[in-house]
Formats: sequence, structure tokens, C-alpha cells
Amino acid sequence: MGSEKKSGRLLQVEHLAVTFQTREGEVTAVKDLGFSLERGQTFGIVGESGSGKSQSMLALMGLLAANGRASGRAVFDGQDLLAMPPRELNQVRGNRIAMIFQDPMTSLNPYLTVERQMTEVLELHKGLTHRAARQRSIALLESVRIPDAATRIRMYPHEFSGGMRQRIMIAMALLCEPDLVIADEPTTALDVTIQAQIVALLRELQRDFGTAIILITHDLGVVAGLCDQVMVLYGGRVMEQGSAESIFYRPTHPYTTGLLGAVPRLLNGPETLLAIPGAPPDMASLPAGCPFSERCPLVLPHCATVLPPLIPDAADRSVLRACHRPEREVAALSIAGAA
Ligand SMILES: Nc1ncnc2c1ncn2[C@@H]1O[C@H](COP(=O)(O)OP(=O)(O)O)[C@@H](O)[C@H]1O
Ligand code: SF4
Ligand SMILES: [Mg+2]
Repeated sequence: MGSEKKSGRLLQVEHLAVTFQTREGEVTAVKDLGFSLERGQTFGIVGESGSGKSQSMLALMGLLAANGRASGRAVFDGQDLLAMPPRELNQVRGNRIAMIFQDPMTSLNPYLTVERQMTEVLELHKGLTHRAARQRSIALLESVRIPDAATRIRMYPHEFSGGMRQRIMIAMALLCEPDLVIADEPTTALDVTIQAQIVALLRELQRDFGTAIILITHDLGVVAGLCDQVMVLYGGRVMEQGSAESIFYRPTHPYTTGLLGAVPRLLNGPETLLAIPGAPPDMASLPAGCPFSERCPLVLPHCATVLPPLIPDAADRSVLRACHRPEREVAALSIAGAA
């Protein structure tokens, strides 16, 4: 298990779009999404339920539902995932990109012991003997802090707690030493204490294994502890994109400000959690302009009809934002919101 420092561009996504054919016509679930990820870095994709987080990643993996179609480019280590034949993409998915999900039971087989599930992968994909595969699996379970791993490896998934199952799924994801782990809401089903432990674990693994992570979450709090760069999605469109620090401390988009209001404020106690009024948009009938216009506290008359382009912020060129309001007017909103 190498802990050598890796560097360089791992993934470059350009103009990614996902459309679905439905009875109501074509629905664009994701549009014009782009980002790049360096080896060993963590990229966060944040947004409320239905904003297109999961579908954008499933599109890269070739795992969209039959009525879905992806377009754009997603160059992973020199090869465009979206143009790859299914067999090759399968190889990449098994060996170089691993996914972990909110519900560990989507990737764990309830009828097989953890040992069987882990060793089988190593014997099949890596050609290890059973003995070597078992040793390797125990070491991985230890690295995700499963106590007494050598004994517990013989247990079935349901014999573990939810948090422990999540750890086992992470260990499974690391079996083939992937370059990239895509984690889709990995902490959402867990209580707050366990959530913090899983985030700490992911941070450790990233440091020790040099794995790049794409973290999907509706919770900006989780992103702050783990991510280098962050993309904020709403209605399948990028609202704001930049370093985690800038998104968290200097949000330039009213939607990001709203999401930050929904993060439990440590100073005031969790009971001050503020949700954004209104519901996420109906993807089948998005406004022609800004998708957030129906809920935005700063909405201007032309917001619903004129789409704001995603452009660098005037003050900080490393931040991309899609909003008709200048950044300073949005900053005034966040100060008022924090008071
Ligand atoms: N098979 C499908 N057919 C039509 N629409 C779909 C399909 N799968 C997902 N969608 C739509 O795509 C949008 C984005 O979904 P998703 O990426 O799962 O959101 P989330 O941000 O919660 O992960 C949703 O509005 C959803 O209704
Ligand atoms: S473009 Fe208009 S509606 Fe959209 S976030 Fe900015 S101010 Fe609000
Ligand atoms: Mg999702």
C-alpha cells in the first residue's frame, strides 16, 4: 500500500450535461458542469436533494438509468470516461474509481461474510492467494478502525452497527487502491458523532493512501472539514464554485448564503438551524433565467428570464459565480443573515 505523494491532474470534467427522456418530455437534470481534480485532492459537490449531485457522478461512471444520457467530456487520467466502451469503463470502475453510498447495504452483500466479500475481490482482481487476501483485508479493516478485525472479519454485515458498516464499505472501496473515491452522502444516515468520525476517517485515508475524493453532500458543514474545492449546485446548474474556504467564509451567491444558514451554528446551538424557505425547483419546468429566482431573497426583475452566466468573481477571480447581483450585495445579505 503506497503512501507515496501523488500529484498532477486526475480528472477534468467539461460541459457535463445529463438529460432524461420522460413522459413529460426531455428533462435536463444537469447542465454545463465543469471542474478539475488533482490527485489526492477532495472536491465537494453540495446542494439540496434533487439538485443533480448523484446523477452527475453516475453519468461519469456510465451508471445512468436507461432513459438518461450524458454529454460533455470527463477526462480521467488521459481518457474520456464518457467516450469509453462499456467494457473499459467497467475496468476503470472496478479498479481505479470506487463509489461509496449513503446506505452501505447497496454495496455489501447481506448473505456473505465480510471476509468472503473482501477476499473475493482481491483474489479475482489482484490475483492474490486467499491467505494474502485475508491478511490484506484485515489490514484494511484495521485502517478504518474496526476493532478486533481479525475476528470480526468472519461476521455478516448485519452484525455490525450502521457506523461500522459504513467503515466496512469504505474499506471495500479501498481494496483495489483506487485513484478516486466518489462518496455520495456517506454520512447522511448517521448520527452527528458518527458523522464526525467518518469525516475524520476519510481525511486520514486520503492522507495515508493519497486517494482523491469527490464528496457529495447536502451538508456544507461536512464539506468544510474535508474539501479543497467546492461546487454548489441548484436545479442541476452551478451556482458557485471555488475553494472551500471562500465558499464557507465569503459566499458570493444567495443560494450558498442560504445553505450556510442551514448549517447548525456552533455558537448558537443546533436549534438555530435555518432552512431556505420554499422547495427545490421542478426540473421539468425550470425558469428560463436563474433557477433559484423563485426562492431568492435578492431576486431582481430580470432574474427569472435572463440566465446569469457562470463567471469569475470580480474581487476573487478563483471563485466562479452565476448571479446578476454584484458580490458586495450578496455579502450584505450574509452579514444580515448571521446577525
Ligand atoms: N431516471 C430518471 N428519469 C427522469 N428524471 C430523473 C431520473 N433520475 C433522476 N432524475 C432527476 O434528476 C434530478 C437530479 O437527481 P439527483 O442527481 O439524484 O439529485 P441529488 O442532488 O439529490 O443527488 C432530479 O430532479 C430527478 O428527478
Ligand atoms: S441571479 Fe437573481 S435570483 Fe439568481 S441568485 Fe442572483 S439575485 Fe438571486
Ligand atoms: Mg443524491
